[in-house]
Amino acid sequence: MFKGLIAEKYDEWYKEKLGKFVDEVETNAALDLLSPRSGMSLLDAGCGTGNFSLKLARRGCKVLGVDISADMLAIARCKAEQEQLPIELLEMDVYDLRFADNSFDGVISMAAWEFIKDEETAFAQLYRVLKPGGKLLIGTINQNSPWGKLYQDIARQDEGSVFRHACFKTMEDLRKLKPEELIDTRECLFVPPNAPEHMINLTGEEQYKNLEKPGFIIAVWEKK
Ligand SMILES: C[S@@+](CC[C@H](N)C(=O)[O-])C[C@H]1O[C@@H](n2cnc3c(N)ncnc32)[C@H](O)[C@@H]1O
Repeated sequence: MFKGLIAEKYDEWYKEKLGKFVDEVETNAALDLLSPRSGMSLLDAGCGTGNFSLKLARRGCKVLGVDISADMLAIARCKAEQEQLPIELLEMDVYDLRFADNSFDGVISMAAWEFIKDEETAFAQLYRVLKPGGKLLIGTINQNSPWGKLYQDIARQDEGSVFRHACFKTMEDLRKLKPEELIDTRECLFVPPNAPEHMINLTGEEQYKNLEKPGFIIAVWEKK
């Protein structure tokens, strides 16, 4: 699904004003919840072109990124090499992680959960490879938000869209996964996709908080 031109053009979104802002808001929330420390071993599940893997590696984390798309991984590899960041990148399906139990200090999955249809199986895999005491963080587009609606519309209208393969979730869906070990949740990206240019900033994010549903939701579990 994330192949060829789709993979090649993926990072262009992060160069646009709105894409940059979306990334900033989601990154701030995720890093605040995960509190990555230098030396930590982290699995980035559905790492794509390495957007989060690189951010974590720059903070001194030992990052291993996995993805089912060889094309996305090739771009991630290039970027890691350019910055000389020692990120390990492997083609692997989150439903079938080839790692021993309790392998990582932390597991993160950003903007990939949308493409996971069997949540229980994928979640069990991510949890299995996490060390006791470690955090698992999942961040995903909120189905019930202007952003969720936009991507669902694109999926209906555009046959070639990756969102045809998506299955958007709600915070309730995330909360149902191992509720006894869920330690935190966060909502962000209140700025909607059709916001005027002058509102695409952190002030706009504050102002839209009471007006719009959050476009991105994050949940964090701590393994006992
Ligand atoms: C929207 S991209 C997000 C990439 C990156 N995490 C980011 O924040 O930019 C979603 C990625 O999830 C990957 N993906 C989807 N299903 C997967 C699966 N079952 N196992 C591994 N990766 C998967 C896709 O190949 C794609 O690279």
